[in-house]
Amino acid sequence: MIVFTHPREWKRLRSELFSDRASVGYVPTMGALHEGHQSLISRASEENDLVVVSIYVNPTQFNQASDLSAYPRDLGTDLEIAAAAGCEVVFAPTNESIYGEEMVSSDTDYGTLTSSLEGAERPGHFNGVVTIVRKLFNAVKPTQAYFGEKDFQQLAIIREMVRRESIDVNIVGCELVRDEDGLALSSRNARLSNEGKLTALFLSKTMREADEKDRTVPPQTLAKWAFDQLENHPGIEPEYVEIVDATTLEKLNEWGTEEARILLTAWVDGVRLIDNSAI
Ligand code: PAJ
Repeated sequence: MIVFTHPREWKRLRSELFSDRASVGYVPTMGALHEGHQSLISRASEENDLVVVSIYVNPTQFNQASDLSAYPRDLGTDLEIAAAAGCEVVFAPTNESIYGEEMVSSDTDYGTLTSSLEGAERPGHFNGVVTIVRKLFNAVKPTQAYFGEKDFQQLAIIREMVRRESIDVNIVGCELVRDEDGLALSSRNARLSNEGKLTALFLSKTMREADEKDRTVPPQTLAKWAFDQLENHPGIEPEYVEIVDATTLEKLNEWGTEEARILLTAWVDGVRLIDNSAI
């Protein structure tokens, strides 16, 4: 495994070691890799001549210092997981190598895409995400970049950034990976107790039940029903449940031909969990 920390090292490696590799598949991550990340890396490896994974816990996208400091970090294990999934090169920048002297994020306003859902609950979060992904794309210059539907809104925003800024990269959206009980895999799950993990299963169960309800109930009533289910469940504190148009992320007022998505956020064991699914 080749690990580099500064964008300029990649420029040299790309031309000296990998000039025969036409396509570069890129998977940006914050590390603490699990099977969700692995699925992105494996897919990138199937579809490209070379895979680059970045591992960087980006401070500017965290709203709470405690969440940033509690974020799990284990580069050694991450390198093994990335290699097993077909990655040959890891970009592990430092704050200085990727941000320079000033670690600031620029404001991003893509209307509903950035102001709704996570954008409303985590002010500044997407400013940080867009800023770092733009910098990472600039450094890696990938042919294709892989993002999970686990962060459904993030994927929509990155697609919009690439469109608006005419960045020459193909964005590939990958399915959300769950464990066998239905829990969406997340690096933050490591902070759940065993009981919390069982409680958290109620999130995906509620989305499945909502999906099974008949469509005489309008989307917003169904979203309210799902929110109440979570709120009445011991150990769960929901922040929001919304049913939206999967492309614009606008709230859906009636069932139509547009693809619909249910997205939710809830606290379990003091851990903020997000999940979503087609509905
Ligand atoms: P991170 O949370 O590490 O996620 C990296 C990528 O893995 C994201 O595209 C995310 O959607 C995907 N992913 C995480 N869990 C998944 C799961 N269970 N199934 C499928 N894909 C999953 O997202 C970030 O990092 C950061 O915001 C980043 C884009 C790296 C910018 O800092």
